[in-house]
Amino acid sequence: MNNYQIAEKLSTPIAIVNEHGGLEWKNDAFELMFGVDAKDWLKEGSRVVGGERGWLQDFFMDGEEHRAVDVEIEGRTFRIEHIMEVPDYSSRSVALWFEDVTQQRQMEQAKSDFTAQIVHDLRGPLSGIQGTLEFVLSQEGNKLDSMYSDLLQEAQRESERMMGLVNELLDFSKIEAGNLVIEKEPVRVAGVLKRAVRSLQQVASRDEVFLLSAHGRDVPGVIGSVEKLTQAIINLVSNSLKFTPKRGLISVGAQIVRNGDLPESIVITVTDSGMGIKSSELAQIWEKYKQSGNRSLRGGGGTGLGLYIVKQIVEAHGGEVTVASLEGVGTSMVIKLPVKKASDTGVITASRAAQ
Ligand SMILES: Nc1ncnc2c1ncn2[C@@H]1O[C@H](COP(=O)(O)OP(=O)(O)O)[C@@H](O)[C@H]1O
Ligand SMILES: [Mg+2]
Repeated sequence: MNNYQIAEKLSTPIAIVNEHGGLEWKNDAFELMFGVDAKDWLKEGSRVVGGERGWLQDFFMDGEEHRAVDVEIEGRTFRIEHIMEVPDYSSRSVALWFEDVTQQRQMEQAKSDFTAQIVHDLRGPLSGIQGTLEFVLSQEGNKLDSMYSDLLQEAQRESERMMGLVNELLDFSKIEAGNLVIEKEPVRVAGVLKRAVRSLQQVASRDEVFLLSAHGRDVPGVIGSVEKLTQAIINLVSNSLKFTPKRGLISVGAQIVRNGDLPESIVITVTDSGMGIKSSELAQIWEKYKQSGNRSLRGGGGTGLGLYIVKQIVEAHGGEVTVASLEGVGTSMVIKLPVKKASDTGVITASRAAQ
């Protein structure tokens, strides 16, 4: 019995497809599952439209480790896996294996929708608690005994921390559900830094850490989401706050990298004079749930999701994020974002041309 005869008998659909979407060979299970319709969606998968290549093309890209894709075929989801290249045909051909994962994907989706909903619902009551504490603490002529006001401040600090965790989980569940949509709006980087720093200034002064932002006047903008970029900077600064001792310094800055006369990218740095990260642990901090051996100076663990979220946000903006750190000296997180291109918005094109 040769390989084809074995494949013939398998109950999983298998087909040999050439790079034009032509069906060179199929087993009985494939025939039973897809019948004659396969011709149409295979053709569709082999097309390249406006630079976007169809899923089938992924299997013909040299040196790419992209060997399994999820594809919607006639209302069902199939995980299509590359088995091997098959040299016996006149044009390049690959053997593919089709697994129906419709139910599995639906369950995953339901689970992540549910998590997202719960986490979202937690924010409501929590901001109620925060608002109440803030109100009580801000009353002028407050006759609270100092012990009570200390306790209330502690409660406020804990609720802030909880809000941080809830927000991270919410962002994370969106990313995992594939719902991290990045708007394409012009973003003033200077404004993003200002917002992020302002929202943590109070926490910093309470913890007796200097938090400042510094940038030139002509920081150009980027294209993306103000909300998400602000969130990314907030995540970095809150990490610095956890690991920087009293009288330490955290500075947030932005710089332009030019290519000739034109700004090419913007580099945003969040640098602290904190405890630093062991070099052996540097590589893993970007992974989800991964934390280094560092203990927060201000109590409470984290989720280990903050930096993973930052990385996803930055990469969704076409940028990259890196870290430099020295134990006992400090840490510097560096985000590099491409500057908006002349073709991205009409307004910019016009003003550049006029210069
Ligand atoms: N500025 C920093 N200084 C020292 N350690 C840091 C800093 N930022 C991140 N880390 C380390 O990287 C780990 C991962 O960070 P993150 O993904 O934000 O998770 P979390 O803050 O929930 O622990 C942290 O647990 C900490 O050990
Ligand atoms: Mg964190």
